[in-house]
Amino acid sequence: MQTHLRGRDMITTQEWTKDEIDTVLDVALELKRRRALGEPHALLRDKVLAMLFFFSSTRTRASFEAGMAQLGGHAQFIESKSTQIAHGDTATEMGEILGRYNDGLAIRQVDWEQGNRYIRDVAAASRVPVHNMQCDQFHPFQVLADLLTIIEHKGDPRGLTIDVSWAYAKSYQKPLSVPQSLILLMTRYGMNVRLTHPPEFKLRPEMLDQAQANARAAGGTFEMLDDFDAGFRDADIVYPKSWGCMLTTPDPEESARIGERYANWIADEQRMALAKDDAMYLHCLPADRGIEVTDAVIDGPRSAVFDEAENRMHVQKAVLALTM
Ligand code: CP
Repeated sequence: MQTHLRGRDMITTQEWTKDEIDTVLDVALELKRRRALGEPHALLRDKVLAMLFFFSSTRTRASFEAGMAQLGGHAQFIESKSTQIAHGDTATEMGEILGRYNDGLAIRQVDWEQGNRYIRDVAAASRVPVHNMQCDQFHPFQVLADLLTIIEHKGDPRGLTIDVSWAYAKSYQKPLSVPQSLILLMTRYGMNVRLTHPPEFKLRPEMLDQAQANARAAGGTFEMLDDFDAGFRDADIVYPKSWGCMLTTPDPEESARIGERYANWIADEQRMALAKDDAMYLHCLPADRGIEVTDAVIDGPRSAVFDEAENRMHVQKAVLALTM
């Protein structure tokens, strides 16, 4: 267990050692147990987390806010549109100023080629830890919750096969942050990670190289497929979700048109039947129901999406309690 995490930023899990991530998972389970028992755990009494959102959210906002209250502190919700950012407040000013009012900052900024840069610029100017509530490249708290859910349902993740797959959606061109974060984290836990997507829906090459290096170091595998059904075959965990083809075209309309070629990439019962009998279905949510996944799958017995959403709060509380 690592005990010197005070002041650390969580921008990507890749910047935390495996020992440090194990500590987060351990503390998350302890805080989950304490909440289940009704034991108070006001570890952040009088502390304040500023949550700056440039994009909508259901789970992230609600779980950070509830988590801070359970830890005895407060979370202030700041929507970028309601600030003076559009009138000139820079990332450096936001880091300096919000860092003087608060004990921690959390930011969601998913604009392509801007979000991660913005969060890192705020972090460089902040005297308190800065946490990534999702950027264009990473969604670290989502994948920490995913890993905790896998461990709770399946035990030791080493040797398990997870299919991180693209699926069709219509709602919007979703960021690359979830699949990139999944391949980076799950390969560090000795899993056999499949990345499945149509050729146009590439992830960043440096993320693929890092995932390959992680897999080599941890004794797992990392392979890439372009066949939706093949990704499901004999998998222990399936995680089919949509993302945009930003690396093929910067135009969201063209990206949507390309996606339509693969409208049959929907997680349905036929696909689930290809996976192992006890295969688990995960999705970070929100999902495009009836397009990305059928109701029978997402509401079915093999879906763990509600445990997964709940675990967001427990892993976030662990990181906040360890770093703030
Ligand atoms: N999974 C996730 O981050 O959900 P929200 O976008 O609703 O916060």
